[in-house]
Amino acid sequence: MKKMLVAYDGSEASKKAIEMASKCSRKEDEITLLTVVPAELAESSFTKMLLPTIDLSDVVKSGSFKQKAMESLSKIVKEIENNVSKVNVAVEAGDPADEILMSAKKHEADIIVVGYKGYGKEGRFLLGSVTDKVVRHASKSVLVVR
Ligand SMILES: Nc1ncnc2c1ncn2[C@@H]1O[C@H](COP(=O)(O)OP(=O)(O)O)[C@@H](O)[C@H]1O
Ligand SMILES: [Mg+2]
Repeated sequence: MKKMLVAYDGSEASKKAIEMASKCSRKEDEITLLTVVPAELAESSFTKMLLPTIDLSDVVKSGSFKQKAMESLSKIVKEIENNVSKVNVAVEAGDPADEILMSAKKHEADIIVVGYKGYGKEGRFLLGSVTDKVVRHASKSVLVVR
């Protein structure tokens, strides 16, 4: 049995990562879907400058970002759960790459599956910064999906 950790940020590339993980897995395998709510969302001076009256760290703590992320992961579970033995969902907050690496350890994943780029930025870099960091630091195999 294999365990796969798939990192999902809502981008087209990460949707492809989920499709690929689902296609490459066997009935006895286990898939964990992970979304990381970036800590910088609350901490960046840019957001604070735009929204000086809103304490975004409170919003993050209140869990509404996490809850939304959990809801979209739950939808995906329904699409892939018939192909494998089990699908887990996880939402963490922090540095996306660090959280992906820690979750992979926690869930004892044999493979980490990521998209080659993330949400938004069109073709500026060949490889996204989160994927770059995961590939450099992971002790297990990383599948970068294009
Ligand atoms: N916040 C996140 N939560 C979960 N996975 C993420 C997150 N950010 C990035 N990833 C994973 O890393 C892949 C590449 O994204 P990223 O490196 O952030 O590219 P970019 O620099 O273009 O945003 C995504 O397709 C996804 O698999
Ligand atoms: Mg990104």
